[in-house]
Amino acid sequence: STSAHKDDAGVLSVGGVALTELARTHGTPAYVLDEADFRARAGAFRDAFAGYDVYYAAKAFISTAVVRWVAEEGLHLDVCTAGELAVAERAGFDMARVEFHGNNKSAAELERAVELGVGRVVVDSFHEIERLARVAESLGRSQRVMVRVTAGVEAHTHEYIATAHEDQKFGFSITNGAAYDAVQRVLAAPSLELRGLHSHIGSQIFASAGFEVATRRVLALHARIAAELGVELPEMDLGGGFGIAYTTQDAPASPARLATEMSAIVEHECRALGIAQPHLSIEPGRAIVGPSMCTLYEVGTVKQVALDGGAQRTYVSVDGGMSDNIRTALYDADYSCTLAGRRSGAEPVLARVVGKHCEAGDIVVKDEFLPGDVAPGDLLAVPGTGAYCRSMASNYNHVLRPPVVAVRDGESRVVVRRETVDDLLATDVGDA
Ligand code: LLP
Repeated sequence: STSAHKDDAGVLSVGGVALTELARTHGTPAYVLDEADFRARAGAFRDAFAGYDVYYAAKAFISTAVVRWVAEEGLHLDVCTAGELAVAERAGFDMARVEFHGNNKSAAELERAVELGVGRVVVDSFHEIERLARVAESLGRSQRVMVRVTAGVEAHTHEYIATAHEDQKFGFSITNGAAYDAVQRVLAAPSLELRGLHSHIGSQIFASAGFEVATRRVLALHARIAAELGVELPEMDLGGGFGIAYTTQDAPASPARLATEMSAIVEHECRALGIAQPHLSIEPGRAIVGPSMCTLYEVGTVKQVALDGGAQRTYVSVDGGMSDNIRTALYDADYSCTLAGRRSGAEPVLARVVGKHCEAGDIVVKDEFLPGDVAPGDLLAVPGTGAYCRSMASNYNHVLRPPVVAVRDGESRVVVRRETVDDLLATDVGDA
């Protein structure tokens, strides 16, 4: 995060808190969340995308504290399960500013959402349209709806997180007419109010070409709906997916540049199609919370491993791993790390940072140069772990999920506490 700073002794601090002190107070592993950084990134999207609604995508990371910051920074909130919705509710978030996603929301989830009065439900299948129409009708409500469409573009990102090519589970295909049919189905349901189309092409995307093609296709459908059905949809959501820098190889665009580019595409296309511009929204998750957190680990063991050809690799084991950051194992993601508690003059060695799980793929940082004297007790910080790390954390090997410790102005406070063995055992009710 922007406040990360190493002093002359090599001690890294974030938000004015030395990570050595943080480790002493809160233990390791721990996620360290820089509140000012989070708020600044949220604010940067809000300001750059003035005139849009900016939804923070809670799936990247959600807690009641973060939901409150999202509200205070003037953003909306994107949730995709009853669980995320419950966090928003507990935090007292204005439900009219919530958008509810998901390709298989249950009847119970839809009921809860309608009851709570969520602003938009993004429908993703014909079954869901029927289910939601029934739920809204039985509750005597009119529910605002967006229709998730599949733009049919190949986003350049890992295949597991690309969502706009044809052969994947999200959205109604434009190509086979499903999207158009879905729009008609929603329009025909008296308990549903169609607000617009929704498109999300994937995550950790840098090239604007994918966004551009998707936006063109969705706007073309929007124009067709106006021309053939006489319905001018007031809104359009262009999703999230803006990439962040995990290593020095990545060069993300600023929110201001993204906004300029997106607005130019929409303006140009709407003029070409002869239609009025819908009110736009976006849903960044990673680009807001990703850089705001780092994970602090303590080194437990260091060993040399022989490689083919006589070379060696230094394996540095930390006290967490794939249970707190699955992204390296799952997406072959790149991370970096740094010695956080002291300075070292030792020659750097090419190291691999691994976790404590019973699995060889339990790698946190594939390759990093660390001082050759890295040793048990050293602290390592892995930056950029705010998005999809705590939110995808597991209890694999019955490991306790780490706390999230917020730092600000030299103070630290726990916003999500560390799990305890009692937490783990609480769900194990035995066979009595
Ligand atoms: N909107 C929709 C409809 C989404 O499905 C997503 C992410 C977002 C917004 C936010 O995307 P973001 O701005 O955070 O890229 N677990 C994967 C990422 C999965 C993304 C799922 N949907 C990872 O760790 O890379």
